[in-house]
Amino acid sequence: MLHAVEKYVSDQSNRYIEELKAFLSIASISADSNYVSEMRTAAEFLRAQFDSAGLQAEIVETDGHPIVAASWTGAESAPTALVYGHYDVQPPDPLDQWVSPPFDPQVRGEHIFARGATDDKGQLFTHVKSVEAWLKTHGRLPVNVKFVVEGEEEVGSSNLDQYLEANREAVRCDVAVISDTSQYAPGIPAITYGLRGILACEVTLRGPQSDLHSGVFGGAVANPVNSLCSIVGKLHDDEGRVQIPGFYDDVIPLADQERSAFAKLPFDEKSFLNDLGLEAGWGEAGFSTNERRWARPTCDVNGIIGGYTGEGPKTIVPSSATAKITCRLVPHQDAAKLTRSLKDFFVANVPAGIRVEFTEYHGCGALVFDTQSPFMSSAHAAIERAFGVAPVMIREGGSIPVVATFRDVLGVDTLLLGWGQNTDNLHAPNERFSLIDFQRGTAASAALWHYLST
Ligand code: BES
Ligand code: MN
Ligand code: MN
Repeated sequence: MLHAVEKYVSDQSNRYIEELKAFLSIASISADSNYVSEMRTAAEFLRAQFDSAGLQAEIVETDGHPIVAASWTGAESAPTALVYGHYDVQPPDPLDQWVSPPFDPQVRGEHIFARGATDDKGQLFTHVKSVEAWLKTHGRLPVNVKFVVEGEEEVGSSNLDQYLEANREAVRCDVAVISDTSQYAPGIPAITYGLRGILACEVTLRGPQSDLHSGVFGGAVANPVNSLCSIVGKLHDDEGRVQIPGFYDDVIPLADQERSAFAKLPFDEKSFLNDLGLEAGWGEAGFSTNERRWARPTCDVNGIIGGYTGEGPKTIVPSSATAKITCRLVPHQDAAKLTRSLKDFFVANVPAGIRVEFTEYHGCGALVFDTQSPFMSSAHAAIERAFGVAPVMIREGGSIPVVATFRDVLGVDTLLLGWGQNTDNLHAPNERFSLIDFQRGTAASAALWHYLST
């Protein structure tokens, strides 16, 4: 049966690419309120895709952007997989760095270029198309498949938990499946068994009630931009260790076995850095690059706003300064607790005369899954069949908030089957996705439905 499905996937590849282009043409930018109507267009596009594939589909309203839910549940007594994806994309800025416009998808070489190509429209689409292929060739799937596709992943998934909690029965499943991560490297597909968590916040330091003449007042009042930079400078010591009190308290040391498994993965530090235009890496002393990015916590300033940034000089003591900060978390660290520690760190280090305003954004915990589960074996077999090589087992440093909810609310593990590459420019200009991986990913998804049923 799988042969016929694989043949359909390959026969339909040009149409699949055209439909992916249509999906990528919709500027579904969740962070920007100017794009609410494009968000709805993208949700409706997906609903129509599910309809024509032969699933029951609906658009579910939330307090934010809509969720698209779809299902085919005709495989009685077979397992149920819940596919999650997100149709929202990151803002495309800086626009002038795109070779072709972000929402005018273009194929160059083996890649399709557009915002959302790999994160996550192209990857999500592999599952939509594999399900279509099964239903068009056999009128049925070997397992039950449900989809939950949200439009708020890039802004913290704040309305999704409520939907999942209120619809526990509708989303009941044996395992979740997400393609929103990366392969280990070109030619080395991977199953990701762990993700880092995240906490996101914004700190504003407020000084004088308005900007001041730096000649008249400078030296006699604290400068919020200077203070912010000084506190940011205290976030790490010279060994790259985060200095927020208690930051590492709940961190479990990496097991020797896992460290040696990481160390066995092929890794060329030089070409890793070269791809980034860097001559040297940086990080916590005593850990390898993969350990640092997959399994150690971090604290990064994402942006700083403050003072005069226009052309030419201007002599002021600015009235305020703001930093946007995220910490990546590892298992057992608590986002809420560390958010308080981060706030306390600013309050404790700020000079007299400056007030700290602290805004909490989203947060989610980190996760590591059992690599020995039968679901993992099915995914392993499906990837090996479609890619022609066995996947390696990796962790990744990014975060997908819903994965923790799937565990806590639905009690299921997630198969993180990434078809992208770290070099696909996700969240950056010229985002892309390999069309070969698009087809292999679709074939792997088609095979997964088979292997999950056996
Ligand atoms: N698809 C990414 C997460 C990702 C990327 C995981 C690469 C592993 C490897 C996702 O869309 C994303 O960007 N997540 C955000 C989460 C945040 C907004 C809560 C992230 O990791 O910054
Ligand atoms: Mn994503
Ligand atoms: Mn993303």
